[in-house]
Amino acid sequence: MTGTTDVLSLEGLTVARGARNVVRDVSLEIPAGEVTALLGPNGAGKSSMVLAIGGILKPVAGSVHLDGVDLAGRRPERIRRAGIAIVPEGRRLLPELTVAENLRVATYTLSGADAEAGRKRALELFPELEKRLEYSARSLSGGEQQMVVLAQAMVSHPRFVLIDELSLGLAPVVVNRLVPTIRSFAESGIGVLLIEQFATVALGLANRAYVMEGGRIRFSGMASELRANPELLQSAYLLRGRNGAAGSPAPAGAQPRPA
Ligand SMILES: Nc1ncnc2c1ncn2[C@@H]1O[C@H](COP(=O)(O)OP(=O)(O)OP(=O)(O)O)[C@@H](O)[C@H]1O
Ligand SMILES: [Mg+2]
Repeated sequence: MTGTTDVLSLEGLTVARGARNVVRDVSLEIPAGEVTALLGPNGAGKSSMVLAIGGILKPVAGSVHLDGVDLAGRRPERIRRAGIAIVPEGRRLLPELTVAENLRVATYTLSGADAEAGRKRALELFPELEKRLEYSARSLSGGEQQMVVLAQAMVSHPRFVLIDELSLGLAPVVVNRLVPTIRSFAESGIGVLLIEQFATVALGLANRAYVMEGGRIRFSGMASELRANPELLQSAYLLRGRNGAAGSPAPAGAQPRPA
């Protein structure tokens, strides 16, 4: 903890996909030095919210405040410069490029010295990547690819990191490897928003938690409340089922087995 009171704060954020608002009037806070969990079933609007914070989708309404500045609707480079890094869903790397080249892509806006420092920091976080630097991204395992994507987010020394689906498609042993790293981000003062299909993983890391369904926040409170009252979480997933929407319910109560 750094003792800082920095907060990334959303107020009334509304985001549309096509003609439909898929994030509706969302207000939430991501404090520095903590992990904040964002849970919710498929199609809840979690990724759309993250893309809007990152400037990739332009919000219809609402604000994204940091340091008294409203970043809503600004360009992705501006948002990144303010200290907000996004780890998008789906682990998209440039498959033909090597790990070293993928890391270089992430540092292209930085000065030579900052880029080198960023690269060094990334490899300290994920020393496993050192021996993979000259391998193509496509030859890596899913876990290694996730490390590269997380490393890309960390090279610019962000103050806030928004991680969309940490564990999707990864073996439990890999998830267990990543968990302490996410915790260390928060301990170093970074504000982490963690979207995670395994509620147990997310709530084990998080201080605060939000549950989103149908584009709206249905629960906000301490992660410990959701841990103690799993029915609070289940009800959001059940709402989704009652709406008759497609997509399998997320394994809210499931957790990867320890290695
Ligand atoms: N490119 C797109 N064009 C149109 N609609 C989209 C697009 N991407 C997502 N949507 C719709 O927006 C809504 C919110 O989707 P979003 O991906 O933000 O949800 P999510 O909570 O991240 O879901 P998941 O848990 O499956 O990742 C869904 O109804 C989805 O079908
Ligand atoms: Mg998503």
